Amino acid sequence: MTVDEMSSATDDSVQIRDIEPEDLPRMFQMQLDTESNRMAVTIPRSAEVFDSHWADALRDPTVTAKAILLDGALAGYVSCFPCEGRASVGYWISREHWGKGTATQALRLLLREVTTRPLNAHVATSNGASLRVLQKCGFVVEGVRMSPASDRYPACEEAILVLKE
Ligand SMILES: CC(C)(COP(=O)(O)OP(=O)(O)OC[C@H]1O[C@@H](n2cnc3c(N)ncnc32)[C@H](O)[C@@H]1OP(=O)(O)O)[C@@H](O)C(=O)NCCC(=O)NCCS
Repeated sequence: MTVDEMSSATDDSVQIRDIEPEDLPRMFQMQLDTESNRMAVTIPRSAEVFDSHWADALRDPTVTAKAILLDGALAGYVSCFPCEGRASVGYWISREHWGKGTATQALRLLLREVTTRPLNAHVATSNGASLRVLQKCGFVVEGVRMSPASDRYPACEEAILVLKE
C-alpha cells in the first residue's frame, strides 16, 4: 500500500452529520483560507456576515447543511440550498484534507439524504477539482455563463451542472 493510499478517505472514514454551533468557529477559519477562496472564486465572509449567514441557514427548513467528519474530526461542510429556483449543492474541505476523496464521499452521502432531483451546482470553470467531484457524483454540465461580481463572488465564468436522477 502506498502512502497516498494510506491517507485516502475510505467509504467509512467519511461521515456527515448536522452542523452544531461548536463547528462554526472552525468553519469560519476554513472559509478564510486564501488558496481555497482562489480555487472556489469566492470572497470570504466577515465574522458578522458568516454568523448571520449560518444562523439563517441552520433554521431554514429548505437548507440541508452537514458537517463532514474525516476519521471523526471536522474536515469541512456540504450543503443543499435553494438557488435560482432549484435546489443546489455546495461544499468546502479544509485544505489539509484535499485530495483524499473526502468531498466526493461527503457529496455521495448527502445525495442519499437529499433525494430532490434535479439538483444543481454552480462552479467556476477554473475549479477543476470541484468539477471533477461533481462529475464523479453524476452531475453533468448543462451550461456555461459569465457570473457578475457580487459581495460574495468576483466576476468569473461559471458552469451550471445538473444531477437529473
Ligand atoms: C474542491 C474541493 C471541495 C475538493 O475536495 P477534495 O476532498 O480534495 O476532493 P476529492 O479528493 O473528493 O476529489 C478531487 C478530484 O479532483 C481531481 N483534481 C484535483 N485538482 C484538479 C484539477 N486542478 N483539475 C482537475 N481535477 C482535479 C482529483 O484528482 C480528484 O479526482 P480523482 O478522484 O478522479 O483523482 C476542495 O479542494 C475545496 O474545498 N476547495 C475550496 C472550496 C471549493 O472550491 N468548494 C467548491 C466550490 S463549487
